[in-house]
Amino acid sequence: MSELTIKKLWKEYGDQIVLENVSIDIASRAFVALVGPSGCGKSTFLRMLLGQEQPTQGEILLDGKPLPPEPGPDRGVVFQRYSVFPHLTVLGNVLLGKELSAARFAARLFGQARRSAIDEAHAMIAAVGLAGSEGKYPAQLSGGMQQRLALAQALIMKPRVLLLDEPFGALDPGIRAEIHQLMKTLWHENPMTVVMVTHDMREAFTLATRVVAFERPRDRPEEKLRYGATITRDISIWPPRQAGTASIFRPDRDGPVKKDGPYRDDPAHRR
Ligand SMILES: Nc1ncnc2c1ncn2[C@@H]1O[C@H](COP(=O)(O)OP(=O)(O)OP(=O)(O)O)[C@@H](O)[C@H]1O
Ligand SMILES: [Mg+2]
Repeated sequence: MSELTIKKLWKEYGDQIVLENVSIDIASRAFVALVGPSGCGKSTFLRMLLGQEQPTQGEILLDGKPLPPEPGPDRGVVFQRYSVFPHLTVLGNVLLGKELSAARFAARLFGQARRSAIDEAHAMIAAVGLAGSEGKYPAQLSGGMQQRLALAQALIMKPRVLLLDEPFGALDPGIRAEIHQLMKTLWHENPMTVVMVTHDMREAFTLATRVVAFERPRDRPEEKLRYGATITRDISIWPPRQAGTASIFRPDRDGPVKKDGPYRDDPAHRR
């Protein structure tokens, strides 16, 4: 299970109120798209879910328990850029989390544990369509491939909650459409709840089970600092999507589909 409960959450930076009185229950396995104008606090909200920032007031519960006050393996994150380490190969990037969590002091795995971690990493790399690129460095990958690597890096830790901050915002439209399909498959196949910030309404409605809008209800210049943004809209997608289950309405678009060809952003497959 991975149910999020956010209760009367406030976030202030000095005199500036960024978020005010945000309350929302997010069901286990939901895929929530968070939209709203620039600067309204979407990334701040995500950082609080990650444990990188603390709320000024209010609480965040994961399955009824307060969220640990620092990032942990139960929460994965992918940002628009710079989620992967440039000095590590694809395999190294995917293995890193495993190595860090398994061997706190040595930061290395040995013997059987290492072999099974490597097998798992290879499987995850294949699942995001990067098989064959294990030895490459991020600079040798296209933007879409780097984001697929970032997804593999987050997912190998089997997070209960996956947080995405405009992860596909910098990609070309064709590649974006492909990665949307991949994202859908990953959500169907991995037991996680997803919260994704996006500027792209189409992306929100393509992927999410629920679209939530943050807005500052009072937005005159003199009020800007004194009032934060809060949830102004909360739309459940119809027809409903359910993780792990083919949609009876659009099984081809919304079901747990498998990819059947090479990705367009893989230079090895470019014609
Ligand atoms: N560490 C910080 N210290 C002070 N102010 C901050 C900090 N982080 C964010 N803010 C302020 O909080 C507000 C919300 O920022 P945030 O990055 O969460 O917005 P956003 O909705 O993600 O915007 P965008 O869509 O442009 O990414 C902004 O006014 C920003 O200046
Ligand atoms: Mg942001």
